Amino acid sequence: MPELEMASKSHNIATEDEMVKLGQVMAASLSKPCVMTLSGDLGTGKSVLARAIIRALGHEGAVKSPTYTLVETYTTTGWRIAHLDLYRLNDPEELHYLAFDDIVANCDLIIVEWPDRADGLLPKINLAVTIDYLEQGRLVNIVS
Ligand SMILES: Nc1ncnc2c1ncn2[C@@H]1O[C@H](COP(=O)(O)OP(=O)(O)O)[C@@H](O)[C@H]1O
Ligand SMILES: [Mg+2]
Repeated sequence: MPELEMASKSHNIATEDEMVKLGQVMAASLSKPCVMTLSGDLGTGKSVLARAIIRALGHEGAVKSPTYTLVETYTTTGWRIAHLDLYRLNDPEELHYLAFDDIVANCDLIIVEWPDRADGLLPKINLAVTIDYLEQGRLVNIVS
């Protein structure tokens, strides 16, 4: 039987501050290139986590929500990052209008909120993060 390469880790994240700390820890252990998906209902903290990772990788300015632009890119010392929010993608084919192939070819890290909207058009996913509401805080599951 082939060796299982998938690992799954769960984290109880009580506060937004803890989510930021998780992002910092994740950022420190990323290897290039990386495609990371962030799944979970509205308000679970996908953007909080994405922002923490982007800032931990050296971006000092604002991290704008790509809700309407669908994609925002950042260049820091050592990292070319694309942050996508596909919530408003009507059709996976619209990814072509975003020059998505160029983004994939030119970025070291691609963070994708609402990856299901891409309907399988994403490249190989290296880190799949799912966030669920808990009565208190959030449950973050990371499959790598
Ligand atoms: N434990 C937590 N982790 C992350 N965000 C939290 C937490 N508790 C409360 N929040 C709040 O939840 C909201 C998450 O918003 P956001 O990151 O935009 O969600 P999403 O991108 O998943 O729609 C923020 O307003 C944040 O302050
Ligand atoms: Mg969001």
